[in-house]
Amino acid sequence: MYLKRKRLGGRLLIAATLSWSVAGCSPTGGNGNDNVNGNDNVNGNVNGNGNVNDNVNDNVNDNGSVGAPVLVGLDQDKPIILPFTVQAAYNDDTMFFHMSWEGDRGDTHDYFRYTDGAWQREGGVRRDAQSTIDGDPLRGSTTQNSTIYESRVTFMLDDPNGPNAVPDFGAMGCMLTCHDNSRAMPLWVADDGEVHKYLPDDSTGRLDLWHHRLGRANPIGASDDQWVGLRIGAEADSGGGSRHGDTGDGPYQTASVDDDGNPSWAFDPASTEDGSFAFQFDDLFTSPLRYFAREDSANLGPAPVSVGIDYADAIAMGYEPGEGDTVPRRRLRQPTESRGDISATGTTFTPSADDPLQGRWASNIQRALDTGNDDDTALAEGNVYNIAFAVHTGMVTVRDHYVSFAYTLSLGGGAADVQAVNISGTGAANLPDFSDSGQFPVTNIDLFLPGITSWEFLTGANDDLGLEFIDPATSAAVDQIHGGASFVATGLSCTACHTAADSEDFVASEPGGFPAGSMETLTRQRGGIHAPTPLPPNGG
Ligand code: HEC
Repeated sequence: MYLKRKRLGGRLLIAATLSWSVAGCSPTGGNGNDNVNGNDNVNGNVNGNGNVNDNVNDNVNDNGSVGAPVLVGLDQDKPIILPFTVQAAYNDDTMFFHMSWEGDRGDTHDYFRYTDGAWQREGGVRRDAQSTIDGDPLRGSTTQNSTIYESRVTFMLDDPNGPNAVPDFGAMGCMLTCHDNSRAMPLWVADDGEVHKYLPDDSTGRLDLWHHRLGRANPIGASDDQWVGLRIGAEADSGGGSRHGDTGDGPYQTASVDDDGNPSWAFDPASTEDGSFAFQFDDLFTSPLRYFAREDSANLGPAPVSVGIDYADAIAMGYEPGEGDTVPRRRLRQPTESRGDISATGTTFTPSADDPLQGRWASNIQRALDTGNDDDTALAEGNVYNIAFAVHTGMVTVRDHYVSFAYTLSLGGGAADVQAVNISGTGAANLPDFSDSGQFPVTNIDLFLPGITSWEFLTGANDDLGLEFIDPATSAAVDQIHGGASFVATGLSCTACHTAADSEDFVASEPGGFPAGSMETLTRQRGGIHAPTPLPPNGG
């Protein structure tokens, strides 16, 4: 349980010079309505109201009742390990995954709230909340009002024999895509924009990213289908990362703000229980209006979702915004083409007895085995694939998510960590009964918080360059010598030497390995786990 939060001490290092900063590209700014590149965060508040709130809990009061969202910074008490389970099945043409973990409900994302006669932005990530609390513009927004962010479960998939094969993914997993200049890592500053995960420059291929967004897609029974490749230019990708949406429309649109400061959409009163155009911010976590959809997409999910209409139409129908009125910033819509390949039928969230915002997710997702799209990894019977998982929980993004080592997935192709079970039939309509763990074996995976475990550190590049990062929590330089660097260079996998959790028995996954400790102990040694990021000695 990590509801009781301690506030971190203020940041120690804020400096003026930025000589080491990578490409001085512009922050992402307003995205307009059509989110084509799959970015999650768009910087910039509507008004500069720095409404810092010292509340130390996560919007659930001591008596368990749900309150208005507040600004919450980084949470150093978060456990390093998150237990996670996977089951998989396939029929003649469709793949099914069932993934489960305990965490927050996380089906809320970002909003516009009417305050003192103007619409202001609400919601955003904890790193930006922390930079607001610390007044640190180098590391993020300083005008964030509240911390609200969707949860998600994701995996990257690689066919070692397919046209998009990424040579080292099976050994290195997600670590291949984590870099010192990615968002919230030591060589990143806010001006660099949204630098995502990307493959090392000398890599080839691309990874298929199945991205089940629990706020911005799941309420309409959808997931998001993306991919990760080589880094591309800053201008071309608003920040120079390389996580892309597949071809087609994504599962949500993002509101812009017009010249009068009004958002794009309000509720269609015909679709709300009391005929309202908005809901009260204080009710955010309990309101069924915490998400809305485009009219043609409102009935795609397990329950109908209220409809978002053009703001001008709401005004024409007599809407007058009042204090506290709130509307979602994202409007859900049916994803199309390759972007819409993955459905999320049968996904559930079961709240815990004592806290309606915490509980167990069971993510059920489905996709055609072979979508026919070249931005997807085709799956076929008789093969083994590489797969690595992540969970975002507790209103976080960037490196504050849980990740896994690389695992293998078999569709009747022999030994692998996750055995997908063949079932009869076609199509996604008949879901496997994953509660039958006798028929569908459960693979238990310990996910871990990676901290600042970059590919450059792991391969010894930081050590070679003499890079130094100072941990603001201890004022000490973090270790830049990876004991396994020369082995990683020869392709020996992380699990040849490491476990994820302290409690796991060590079994070298490959000859040549030796027990070198768990991520539960080791990632923390370099600092920055739900704490300010270690930075170059000049402070960044
Ligand atoms: C050949 C064995 C080997 C391999 C392969 C290996 N490591 Fe290590 N790793 C080590 C040793 C040895 C240490 C030092 C352990 C210590 O400090 O107690 C270490 C330390 C670490 C640390 C802690 C660093 C610090 O500064 O304290 C992390 C994080 C880590 N490894 C992650 C990984 C990841 C991720 C991979 C796969 C990309 C990997 N290692 C591959 C041997 C290996």
